[in-house]
Amino acid sequence: MYQAPLPQEYTGLDEATVARRIDAARAKLGAKLVILGHHYQRDEIIAHADYRGDSYKLAKDAGTHPEAEHIVFCGVHFMAESADILTPESQVVILPNLAAGCSMADMANHFQVRSAWKQLGEVLGDIEVGGADTVLPITYINSAANLKAFVGEHGGTVCTSSNARAALEWAFSQAGKVLFFPDQHLGRNTGVAMGVDPETEMALWDPFKPLGGNTPEKLRDSKIILWKGHCSVHKRFTVEQIQDARRDHPGVTVMVHPECELEVVQASDRNGSTEAILKAVTAAPAGSTWAIGTEINLVRRLAKENPDKTVFCLDSQICPCSTMYRIHPSFLLFALDELVAGRVVNQVKVPDETARWARVALGRMLEIGTGTAKD
Ligand code: 13P
Ligand code: SF4
Repeated sequence: MYQAPLPQEYTGLDEATVARRIDAARAKLGAKLVILGHHYQRDEIIAHADYRGDSYKLAKDAGTHPEAEHIVFCGVHFMAESADILTPESQVVILPNLAAGCSMADMANHFQVRSAWKQLGEVLGDIEVGGADTVLPITYINSAANLKAFVGEHGGTVCTSSNARAALEWAFSQAGKVLFFPDQHLGRNTGVAMGVDPETEMALWDPFKPLGGNTPEKLRDSKIILWKGHCSVHKRFTVEQIQDARRDHPGVTVMVHPECELEVVQASDRNGSTEAILKAVTAAPAGSTWAIGTEINLVRRLAKENPDKTVFCLDSQICPCSTMYRIHPSFLLFALDELVAGRVVNQVKVPDETARWARVALGRMLEIGTGTAKD
């Protein structure tokens, strides 16, 4: 998305001035405003967030303040779209920098997914009638709203890294196959944890090749068809890094995000969403050591908030999510100042027809829940 440059008065401000002015604008807006912050946001943004969380938690939090006129989402575009879909028409969702996208979400588009669906139908027969060859589409929440709408219209669901397993179990209770997009790794890791063989029961769909680069037999034999998408941040984590961490820190617990590759997840002790990582480290005993495989802003914050534990990132070369980082405090200040002046900038508004079906898919996601008692 195109983001107009910030007005000049916002570009040379020092950090303390920006923070003070954000606080002042917030005070003026009062209960009319809710600020949501994803765990990957920098500390200077999280300091102003009413809620922080992973994608699943923030999707739920977005709907908890019907009295707020404005929801400022400090995260990336697909998260703001989901918040818009899940909140009443009267609430305005704002993304402080519209250029904050997600490179993984961009790896699947509506045209490609519709083409894949058509090709699967040609190979497998009627894939929407029920029975062993029925295919249910599942989209990771890291996807555009029109893909969520596609999934809603075709009986499927959205999932997050918090509830991917519950979503796959739900799908397999009614269909023989799942088309999972756009993150191959979350789909593969979750499928393997459920006992689906990655060699014989999963296919990889390359949207740039006919039949996704598969033979008809491979597609017929597969239970999970994985879209060839990935996260460039989580791709950086390796088994060697885990071996080094274990060598240098005996007794370390290695926890990674499930967007990491299968062998990395298998070499780690635990895996989970950003919220799961936060909860695990927070609940760990003093003196414990944690090597974390996820975005650096979260890992550094965990280290700071848990001074009685050793917490470090598996990748010593640092791996920020460059698009999350585009939410600079000056953009937040600009958006809030405009609200104080009675103007809305950077609204994220999903067209009604898309929102209608995407809401069905997100509703299924929330109904399925995370499979934990506290959901
Ligand atoms: P979480 O839902 O775990 O926060 O993940 C979102 C994301 O984009 C991770 O890269
Ligand atoms: Fe997208 Fe990866 Fe950034 Fe998450 S960390 S928002 S998946 S690019």
